[in-house]
Amino acid sequence: MLRYFFASFILITCAVVALAGFRGQHSGLPPIEIFPDMKHQPKYQAQHSSNFFADGRAARKPVDGTIPLGYTLAGRYLQVGAKNGPLKPQGFSNLPDYYNTGKLGDSYGDGFPLEVSAQLIDRGEERFNINCAICHGRTGYGNGIVQKIGNWATVANLQDERIRVMPDGQIFSTITNGKNTMGAYGPQIAVEDRWAIVAYLRALQRSQNGKLADLTETQQKELEQEKK
Ligand code: HEC
Repeated sequence: MLRYFFASFILITCAVVALAGFRGQHSGLPPIEIFPDMKHQPKYQAQHSSNFFADGRAARKPVDGTIPLGYTLAGRYLQVGAKNGPLKPQGFSNLPDYYNTGKLGDSYGDGFPLEVSAQLIDRGEERFNINCAICHGRTGYGNGIVQKIGNWATVANLQDERIRVMPDGQIFSTITNGKNTMGAYGPQIAVEDRWAIVAYLRALQRSQNGKLADLTETQQKELEQEKK
């Protein structure tokens, strides 16, 4: 029995070596390809040219703002103003103060530890739409795109009275650390950007909850005029 095994073993080995082996040798014939797989497919190779792209190059430049693999958070930079504007170091810190935690002692604080400007709110709008809108929706009603894919019943409605009256520091802390089924966004969103998001969320909440008394007397009169 064992004899047959050895005989067939040697035979098979010879056959495999004859078919697949000796590929390092020079030959004018096309190589035998046992698994041609992905070798033959329409693709561009590094440094090759292309008739498809206007500049004739197959290699494409990464999209603006692409973050290279292995980029460390501490070295992150934030583009200020225009696309080619100056770069400002972007902060990821975890000191125990209000700015970094949203807490004063053991309780959440209210109010902003940085100047709230139109620029900050604009930045917050951009960051909110990138980081939060997929779940909470662009208007904060908890109807983001994840609700269209599945149905995630627990996504909070940020227009709720409960969240309207929630201290700013608690919202900051929710972004930083997450809450129940919501993950932490602190590792990805810089401290200043988190405050910018809180500021924008306040503007969003206000936008859905305007009262006549928010307007000046002249504006109120103008509105009355328009109604007539
Ligand atoms: C992947 C989905 C997802 C994303 C993205 C997300 N959230 Fe949430 N968020 C949730 C869910 C789910 C809850 C409800 C958690 C719970 O069960 O209490 C929640 C709750 C909240 C709450 C209420 C917390 C509380 O105490 O009840 C706030 C405020 C909030 N999110 C703000 C944000 C902000 C701001 C962002 C963007 C930085 C964000 N979320 C991004 C899913 C998400």
